[in-house]
Amino acid sequence: MRVLVTGGAGFIGANFVHQTVRERPDVQVTVLDSLTYAGNRASLGPVADRIDFVHGDITNADLVDGLVAASDVVVHFAAESHNDNSLGDPWPFVHTNIVGTYTLLESVRKHDVRYHHISTDEVYGDLELDDPARFSESTAYNPSSPYSSTKASSDMLVRAWTRSFGVRATLSNCSNNYGPYQHIEKFIPRQITNVLSGIKPKLYGDGRNVRDWIHVDDHNSAVWAIIDGGEIGHTYLIGADGEVDNRTVVESVLEVLGENPDAFDFVTDRPGHDRRYAIDSTRLRTELGWEPRYRDFRSGLEATVDWYRSNESWWRDRKEATEKKYAAAGEAKTTPGKAT
Ligand code: NAD
Ligand code: TYD
Repeated sequence: MRVLVTGGAGFIGANFVHQTVRERPDVQVTVLDSLTYAGNRASLGPVADRIDFVHGDITNADLVDGLVAASDVVVHFAAESHNDNSLGDPWPFVHTNIVGTYTLLESVRKHDVRYHHISTDEVYGDLELDDPARFSESTAYNPSSPYSSTKASSDMLVRAWTRSFGVRATLSNCSNNYGPYQHIEKFIPRQITNVLSGIKPKLYGDGRNVRDWIHVDDHNSAVWAIIDGGEIGHTYLIGADGEVDNRTVVESVLEVLGENPDAFDFVTDRPGHDRRYAIDSTRLRTELGWEPRYRDFRSGLEATVDWYRSNESWWRDRKEATEKKYAAAGEAKTTPGKAT
C-alpha cells in the first residue's frame, strides 16, 4: 500500500509516520510537507531512510496531482494548527486549511484515491464545565476561532465531495494530543520547556478550562483503524476519556520536574477561549473495536516530560522565538478574578 501523508513533518503526522514504519512494513510512505515554522525534518530523522520526503505545498495542484496519482491512500494532516496564531493572522489558516483541502479533494476525486481527513473536536465549539454532555458525531458544528472555523470548513468540503462526487473519504475529529515532537508553542510542551529553561509556566485566564487529552499514538492507531475498516462517508470522533483542567496539567508538569506545583503565572486569557472539550468515542469503539493504550494521563505526561528532557537539541533553538511571539502578542501576568 502506498500512503501519501501530508504534514508528516509536523507533530501528529511525524508520529503517524513513525508508527506506520514500525508496525506496517507493507506500507510505502511518502510525506508531503512545506516545512512551515511548525514542520521539522528532524522529526523524521529516525525513519528518513525508510520513507520518501517531498518538500512542497498542498495548495500546489500540479505537485499534489502527481503524488496523489501514485498513491493508494492519502492521509491529510497538514494544517495551520495553532489557535493563538490564528487570532494574530487568520490568512494562512484560510489558505492551507481550506484551499489546501480543496486541492487534495480535487485530486483524489480525479484519480479515485481513498482519502482520510484529519480534523479536530474544536469544530463543535465548547461545552460548559458542569455540562454532562460530550461531543458526538451528531453534535452541530459551532466553531469559535479562525483555526477551528477553517477546520470546520475543510470538513464540510470533504462531506460535500463525498456526497456529490463519490470521493471515497472518511473523517476523524480528535481531541487534544500530547506526546513527543509537539511544537513548543502548544500548551504542554511550552510548559515543560519553560520549566526546563527556568521560566514559570503560563496559565491563561483562570486555568479552569478543560481539554480531553489523548496520547498521539492512540490518535494514530485510531486513524489506522478507520483507514482499515471505517465506512466511507462516515465521521469518527477520537478520544480517550482524558478530561483534565489546565491548572492540573501545569501542576503535574511542575511536580514531575521536581518543582513547587504553585510556581506558575496566570497570564492574559486567549480571546474567545473555549471552555471545555469532551469526546464521546462510542462509534469508533463499537464499530471498529478501537481502544486507547495510554489510559493514565499522568504516566503519559511523565514519558513526554522525559522525551523533552532527553531531546533538548530538537527544541532549544526554537524556544526564544516562540516566547518572543507570545510576548509580542501582548501576553502579560494577571491575577484571575481581578479587573485588569
Ligand atoms: P503541526 O502544526 O504540528 O504540523 C502541521 C504540519 O503541516 C507541519 O509539518 C507543516 O509544515 C505542515 N504544513 C502546514 N501548511 C502546509 C502546506 N500548505 N503544505 C504542506 N504542508 C504544510 O500540527 P499537528 O498538531 O500535528 O496537527 C496535525 C493535524 O491534526 C491538523 O490537521 C490538526 O488540525 C489536527 N488535529 C490536531 C490536534 C492537536 O492536538 N494537535 C488535535 C486534533 C486534530
Ligand atoms: P493549546 O495547546 O493551544 O490547544 P487548543 O487551543 O487547541 O486547545 O492549548 C490547550 C489549552 O491550554 C487551552 O485551554 C489554552 C491553554 N494554554 C495556556 O493556559 N497556556 C499556554 O501557554 C498555552 C499555549 C495554552
